[in-house]
Amino acid sequence: MSQDQWTRVDEYWAGLFVPSDAALDGAQSASHAAGLPAISVAANQGKFLALLAQMQGARRVLEVGTLGGYSTIWLARALPPEGRVVTLELDPKHAQVARQNLARAGVESRVEIRVGRALDSLAALHAEGVAPFDFAFIDADKQSIPEYFEWALKLAKPGSVIVVDNVVRRGAVLDEASADPNVLGVRRFNELLAKTPGVSATAIQTVGSKGYDGFALIRVTG
Ligand code: SAH
Ligand code: DHB
Ligand code: MG
Repeated sequence: MSQDQWTRVDEYWAGLFVPSDAALDGAQSASHAAGLPAISVAANQGKFLALLAQMQGARRVLEVGTLGGYSTIWLARALPPEGRVVTLELDPKHAQVARQNLARAGVESRVEIRVGRALDSLAALHAEGVAPFDFAFIDADKQSIPEYFEWALKLAKPGSVIVVDNVVRRGAVLDEASADPNVLGVRRFNELLAKTPGVSATAIQTVGSKGYDGFALIRVTG
């Protein structure tokens, strides 16, 4: 079993289930050309998120971590015409690239990008009393995942779904002695999730073109 094999299986599936698309391909090439890191979800993972959002009947989606808007396009396309994605991004350059990518995909009217520290944007959304989100995707810096999860819960309602990316980190999640802030964030999140009342949660390990990692899946029960 090797990275090369995982990547080829992802490509095989992408060829079958995720037909190539000018807007998604354009988002990846424009992001690369602008020097953004190649850390978006893979095509089959983007479709996985879109399917989860549709199964949930999501109309309001919160995303923490926009990058070039690749996952944002998948999520925006999964929504009904009146649906809305609010996506949070620290880096104005990433947000600018995302804006162009979202426009090329024709979903810019459904997406609001808020630029700034996600913790500040989440507090602002809460203070504004925005309507609850029925789907959240947490995919920004890993040291703050626990706080992003707490805000996502505050901005949710019973039945909402929260997906957290990168909860395995090539197995580093097991390393109790790790001093890596990313690993510490993921471990702190797992411990918080385990003791949070009013949620039902699991986590799934994944391999593929993005390496060995995983998603946590949370349903807000009340
Ligand atoms: N969801 C995207 C990938 C996001 S990569 C996709 O799959 O296509 C993570 C992003 O989080 C980066 O763009 C990074 O700039 C952003 N980020 C990092 N720290 C942040 C913070 N404190 N607040 C908001 N965004 C942050
Ligand atoms: C990496 C991957 C991610 O999905 C992410 O959100 C951040 C970083 C990485 O491979 O480094
Ligand atoms: Mg990620």
